[in-house]
Amino acid sequence: MVNIIFCGFGEGMDKRVFAKQGDLLLRVALNNGVLIPTDCKDGMCGSCAVRIEELDSNPDEPIFESKVDPDLWNKDKYTTYMEDKELHTLVEMGAISKKEAESAQQYAQQTPVRLACQCIIKGPMLIKPFE
Ligand code: FES
Repeated sequence: MVNIIFCGFGEGMDKRVFAKQGDLLLRVALNNGVLIPTDCKDGMCGSCAVRIEELDSNPDEPIFESKVDPDLWNKDKYTTYMEDKELHTLVEMGAISKKEAESAQQYAQQTPVRLACQCIIKGPMLIKPFE
């Protein structure tokens, strides 16, 4: 289980929740009462775009109670393959540059903006609305 923190989604929706690695970000949000706009739920429309910051786990920090063992923390373990269609949609909507998309593909890392309907949770993350 990893921490997912939602911030800036509106009254009552700023919260920290636990999610399973491998779960879909959009499902985690909706199951926890965080409303992220959706239309296609297929990575095509861009309405579910969110800003993402990957969080390092630090059990000494009281505000962040990660279940991830920091000794086993390995950034490579949490690399994320992003589908071409998600990257294409993000570039088309101007959320990321072509260069960021190419880099994400090359290094299997996620971009700072993701589509919640396509984002598989790999590690602790801070999620903010994309505006
Ligand atoms: S709902 Fe359309 S891209 Fe996610």
